[in-house]
Amino acid sequence: MSFKNYWYVVAEAKQISAKKPFRAELLGEWLVLFRNDEGSITAMRDRCLHRSVKLSEGRIENGQLRCMYHGWLYNKDAQVVNIPSEGSGVPKGPCRKAPRFHVREVDGLVFVCLAETPTLAEPFRSSHYAGKGWATVRLVNRFKNNVTNCVENFVDVPHTTFVHPKIFRDPEGHLVRLEMERKDGSVKVVYQNEKHKLGLFSWFLNPKNETYEHIDSFHQPNVTAVEYHFGSSKHFYITSQSIPITDTETLVYTDLTYSFGLFTPLARYFVRKLGQAVIDQDLVILKNQMETIQKYPDAFQNSPVDLMHVWIESIRDAIEAGKDPRDLPEKQHAIEIRI
Ligand code: FES
Ligand SMILES: [Fe+2]
Repeated sequence: MSFKNYWYVVAEAKQISAKKPFRAELLGEWLVLFRNDEGSITAMRDRCLHRSVKLSEGRIENGQLRCMYHGWLYNKDAQVVNIPSEGSGVPKGPCRKAPRFHVREVDGLVFVCLAETPTLAEPFRSSHYAGKGWATVRLVNRFKNNVTNCVENFVDVPHTTFVHPKIFRDPEGHLVRLEMERKDGSVKVVYQNEKHKLGLFSWFLNPKNETYEHIDSFHQPNVTAVEYHFGSSKHFYITSQSIPITDTETLVYTDLTYSFGLFTPLARYFVRKLGQAVIDQDLVILKNQMETIQKYPDAFQNSPVDLMHVWIESIRDAIEAGKDPRDLPEKQHAIEIRI
């Protein structure tokens, strides 16, 4: 098992057409995607078998992909079905097939698994995506850092009062209890007694400053899910899929999925604006962090609240070592922190 055995988002479904090939990169692999003659998506290595030209710069003809150099034509299975210099029709001789990868099209996203056998049967799906009474704003951002540091940031509460005061969470010094668990390749943290002013929209989300429900979770190898429940009528989920492009670059697909009753249709503009403003601040701090790691690659130090990050690292380290993180022993721990 390795990171290649998992599903990763490589595009939004609307980006893959039958007109133009789409280029993507994942774990250092170059990919070309196109909508084939069956209307489904083919994902293959972005390299022509003939003389190593990028197929993503070729063209699509009736759901098949034509290389721009000498015109070799690839079908939905990445099989060469025509070589113009050999005349029309299917070429004789050896079976020529380029590396082709598993694809799933789910909830408007295109997932690819690079390995023969995916560890998980299906990709992780955002809670309540396209549900009745729910809406989703999808944001895509390129972070100059690796997946581990990105996912840690997305479920890290202590930084929010420093990096995102006013717009996300103000420092108020409340005593909050955290119940943490590592199980089945996931880490879950339940926050209790949380009642912060939530930035600009506290007056709307939590007007009486009451305790709200808050759960953060990480799911192997690259997904984080944050959920807030304000009373019984307002719910907000943040699901982030962190995609490893290279060791220092991560493409993050963030779904902000919410249900605010009658206000749901009106909230889209504000959710997008505020969500992107928070991410813009994280882009800066994560770029700073990776630059410093490259200069001084020393081990991190931890405080008690970082235990969840240590568990996330243990899961990712297990995969890196070729092990199944679901075999790690289950762990539980509770702490109190001031935020
Ligand atoms: S390099 Fe693609 S057809 Fe020659
Ligand atoms: Fe943040």
